[in-house]
Amino acid sequence: MSAVARSKRLSVRDIQARKGQAPIVVLTAYTTPIARLLDPHVDILMVGDSLGMVLYGMDSTLGVTLDMMINHASAVMRGSSQACVVVDLPFGSYQESPQIAFRNAARVLSETGAAAVKLEGGREMAETIAFLVERGVPVMGHVGLMPQSVNTTGGFRAQGRDAAEAAKVEADAKAVAAAGAFSLVIEGTLEPVAAGITAQLSIPTIGIGASPACDGQVLVSDDMLGLFTDFTPRFVKRYVELAPAIADAAARYARDVRARTFPGPEHCFKSKS
Ligand code: KIV
Repeated sequence: MSAVARSKRLSVRDIQARKGQAPIVVLTAYTTPIARLLDPHVDILMVGDSLGMVLYGMDSTLGVTLDMMINHASAVMRGSSQACVVVDLPFGSYQESPQIAFRNAARVLSETGAAAVKLEGGREMAETIAFLVERGVPVMGHVGLMPQSVNTTGGFRAQGRDAAEAAKVEADAKAVAAAGAFSLVIEGTLEPVAAGITAQLSIPTIGIGASPACDGQVLVSDDMLGLFTDFTPRFVKRYVELAPAIADAAARYARDVRARTFPGPEHCFKSKS
């Protein structure tokens, strides 16, 4: 077991100070029981808008609302005491203007108690990131493959495979860091691109499908636990297969109920006399 005993929650400053030190461990969490299980082992619990796909069965993250994120972030806060909790701003809640982004980010922080928000985008979001950070909202950036942009980028495809795309990802990363983000998710890109960005930025990079060159790694928990089985991206390592274990438990329960072997005498209340 790799549990790390901490007397208090990690802050965004603690995360920032990890640059060049130990790797940063990040997993997604959307519910109290999962947060409780992951909290002792990770540095950041990410309440990702991936919950739209893995919990709600949506085709993309675009249908996720701010209220959904606030409810799930509150659940994760209730289930954790050590990890720094970062919450995705969903599609449509921050792109329109820095002011609207601030209003929605402020709701996330004040209603959940989470430490920071994450938003997708590069140079086009730099002004918004600076606006939030200057007003007390810590921001984690997200560049490379940006799931909220599937409709304009033509699907969930790796970014930076040619020189022009690689230069764009790098310019986006630099703009986000210069705007004041405390860390940066790099999703779906090649190792030389991630390595170049990680070497140039003074903030930690967190990779997902972006090679070991990053300062930390994040995976969607339902992927690494073998719970989300619709598809498995190349970059996912399955540490356990929970889906077949759950299906098997449900099948055995159904068999017992139909055979009237559950509940047994040990599951029934008895009178006091
Ligand atoms: O939505 C999400 O879960 C994410 C992480 C995987 C980075 O953005």
